[in-house]
Amino acid sequence: MSSIKINNLSFAYESGGKLILKDINTEIGDGEFVCILGQSGCGKSTLLRLLAGLETATEGEILNDGEVIGNPSLNKGVVFQDYGLFPWMTAGENIMLALKQKFPKRNKKELKEIAINMIKAVGLDEAVYKKLPKELSGGMKQRCAIAQAFSIDPPILLMDEPFGALDAVTRARLQDLIRELWAQEEKKKTVFFVTHDVDEALLLANRILVLGQSPSHIIYDVTIPEEQHPTRDTLFENMEMMKLRMTLINQINKDVTTHI
Ligand SMILES: Nc1ncnc2c1ncn2[C@@H]1O[C@H](COP(=O)(O)OP(=O)(O)O)[C@@H](O)[C@H]1O
Ligand SMILES: [Mg+2]
Repeated sequence: MSSIKINNLSFAYESGGKLILKDINTEIGDGEFVCILGQSGCGKSTLLRLLAGLETATEGEILNDGEVIGNPSLNKGVVFQDYGLFPWMTAGENIMLALKQKFPKRNKKELKEIAINMIKAVGLDEAVYKKLPKELSGGMKQRCAIAQAFSIDPPILLMDEPFGALDAVTRARLQDLIRELWAQEEKKKTVFFVTHDVDEALLLANRILVLGQSPSHIIYDVTIPEEQHPTRDTLFENMEMMKLRMTLINQINKDVTTHI
């Protein structure tokens, strides 16, 4: 199980410093694909770092299946925009590193097979196993980071604007990939995906949370049932989705002029 409950969460980077997040309360069900939207600087990455256990709540708490989230652990996979692969190791060695930590008792041959299957599952050639990150394009590197995150099969997946640095075509392909990887699993991962792109959120999420201006809390919360989920082809023809799109844009831009 991988449900999340956030109770009265507030956070400041230093004690007595300015609050970045204030009074966040929500519940996320097991297997929900949650997109977190909000203006730049509103605290999206901070919230994700708290979910990862990289920061500790100043007030309140985050519970994972009833237990306070502790240090970073192997039950959470993370994919960040420019973070993930060690540059001195090949793509395969990077994935193997995560696998060895997760499955210390399994032999190397078995783990290598998992790594190669994952490399193929994200649409890469198995030759990528032996390539250094600097030999790969941005899109290929992000595919490897996704392969690494999925290879350890974490019940919770945290992604912080993972496709932000990619060109539009590569970005669209990887959005479809992540959605497919998530949808095909019987035991679905609970995903938190940070983006400032409303269309990306509409294509990926079945739950969208909008954070307001800092000190931010959740100002809008919407669930999109799986049967109403739009595809890339139908998104812009779907009146309901276009209405929701406008609402989300308005919510994100609320109060923005007073903060610039
Ligand atoms: N390590 C840090 N120390 C102090 N302040 C930080 C740190 N990281 C982020 N901040 C501040 O916290 C606020 C929220 O940042 P962030 O969570 O990165 O926003 P977002 O991801 O929505 O753009 C910003 O004002 C930022 O300057
Ligand atoms: Mg950020």
